[in-house]
Amino acid sequence: MAAQVMGAATVEEALLSRCSVRAFLPTPVPRGDVERLLALASRSASNSNGQPWHVHVLTGGAKRRLTEALWEALDGDGRVAACEYPYQPAADAWPEPFRGRRRSFGDGLYREALGIDVDDAAGRLRHHRRNYDFFGAPVGLVLTVSRHPLDSALVDAGLFLQALMLAARQDGLDTCPQAAFLDFYPVLRRHLQIPDDQIIVCGLALGFADRDHALSRSRTPREPVRAFTTFHDDGPPRPGPA
Ligand SMILES: Cc1cc2nc3c(=O)[nH]c(=O)nc-3n(C[C@H](O)[C@H](O)[C@H](O)COP(=O)(O)O)c2cc1C
Repeated sequence: MAAQVMGAATVEEALLSRCSVRAFLPTPVPRGDVERLLALASRSASNSNGQPWHVHVLTGGAKRRLTEALWEALDGDGRVAACEYPYQPAADAWPEPFRGRRRSFGDGLYREALGIDVDDAAGRLRHHRRNYDFFGAPVGLVLTVSRHPLDSALVDAGLFLQALMLAARQDGLDTCPQAAFLDFYPVLRRHLQIPDDQIIVCGLALGFADRDHALSRSRTPREPVRAFTTFHDDGPPRPGPA
């Protein structure tokens, strides 16, 4: 762990400082540190303690070879028509309010942080490509779960992922979860020899953030608690505090 990097000292600090980082320094992360983070994440709850997760850890040549294969597929339009399982609706089929939030997220990322117009397909693709080298992070993780039972395994995977991202903050490390890999699941399956009974959940970039990069300057907003909470007590149900 780099001595000069300040890590989160409390769970609250880890939660408040975690964000998706899309620009990393090349500073390596020792394998022992990655193993420790994975051991911490494996303390996550899972349905009947099934622990359905599996993690592929990519560094060095293995990571480079996967990136090259993914870029080749991207350039050759090797993107598959759909994820292996119903992951998300098509871009134009998102209902409100998620559609609006997605649009303002895209605006913040492309227009404000990168100066790329939302209609600039080539510019967007240039940035999107960086997903496949894990945004320059020295460690790329690919999380898979057992296909049976899929729905509960995906919930368990989410808990594992969040625990891993928060534990990383304690070491001053940052992360970015990446569903972008799902568009090329056959390439991942082939390269990582993922067996048929495993489903790819997402990738995760892991490393030290490049805090000077334009992409590291903005934070995504959140709805207030009252917007997503209903309190039930002795009176009629009501939203949380303003
Ligand atoms: C399952 C999942 C998949 C994601 N996939 C990507 C991705 O492929 N590329 C990317 O840049 N960000 C991806 N993100 C990051 C989200 O855009 C980000 O979490 C969201 O905008 C909230 O911002 P924050 O993480 O900085 O708080 C993903 C997040 C999750 C949870």
